[in-house]
Amino acid sequence: MAGTGARIVTFHVRRYDPATDREPHWEDHPVEVTPGMTVLDALWIVKEAAPTLAWRSSCRMGICGSCGMLINGRPRLACNTQISELGTNVVAVAPLPNFGIVKDLVPDLAPMFEAHRELMPYLLRDDTDEQDAPTREYLQTPAELEAYLQFSYCIKCGCCMAACPTLATDAGYAGPMPLTQAHRYDCDSRDAGFRARREILSGPDGPWHCHYAGECSQVCPKGVDPARAIQLMKRQLVFDLLHLRRGHAPASLAAPPAGTPREGIAAAPAPTVAPPGQGATPRSPGEAVAPR
Ligand code: SF4
Ligand code: SF4
Ligand code: FES
Repeated sequence: MAGTGARIVTFHVRRYDPATDREPHWEDHPVEVTPGMTVLDALWIVKEAAPTLAWRSSCRMGICGSCGMLINGRPRLACNTQISELGTNVVAVAPLPNFGIVKDLVPDLAPMFEAHRELMPYLLRDDTDEQDAPTREYLQTPAELEAYLQFSYCIKCGCCMAACPTLATDAGYAGPMPLTQAHRYDCDSRDAGFRARREILSGPDGPWHCHYAGECSQVCPKGVDPARAIQLMKRQLVFDLLHLRRGHAPASLAAPPAGTPREGIAAAPAPTVAPPGQGATPRSPGEAVAPR
């Protein structure tokens, strides 16, 4: 190893298979670590000695949100954590707390996504025909984009949920990820769903359980700042109760661009999915696309 910068780090890995184990247990695996190696890279080496070790990962670049786990006591993305930055010769790896365990390092994220789904994290508007078969963009200014942009960076990794002390003691609390995503859409100038979401947010599982400990924002790998989103959400709800909230009409459609179709610019391909109720009209291979 001389001259390679390699060193031996012990990976202290929590194992638990509900099908065969009565209790979780820990295993130690030495790994020869080289500069630039991430915790996810090391887990692949551990897997050579422990082939049944289970975890989730996909993109290896901090985008898919699959590889959240507890690393040296802190929720992190395994693919986004350099072993060198941990500064220890023993790295403890366990599944994200505040979730059930599917197996080993795989948390059961279903309750998080159920709470997320209930809060309708998508544009709610009356013009459902336009939503189903879009014809043009909705108008939005750069300032209106800024109002929710930071919250839209969420990759649904669950690290904030694992860090939340409220969620640790109150499994009914919706939690920072679903609440932040509800606020992301409440802040979107194209959305008209505040009143529909308010019915759920004003209930017992909503933002009023948040103690503003801020742990969620400390661990978020994408800088989303869910603690801030939740406090802004509380302010919106109070203003609404006092009839002081500044509502907005949802953004209207942009005018068709002038001068299209333009010479020399290929027309957009026909939709491959037919609008609801209009039956599919798939194109045959090589069929010419008429300009729209
Ligand atoms: S807010 Fe941050 S920590 Fe929470 S799920 Fe989204 S990206 Fe992960
Ligand atoms: S700020 Fe609220 S949501 Fe975030 S960790 Fe604290 S209690 Fe949980
Ligand atoms: S593997 Fe996709 S975020 Fe880590």
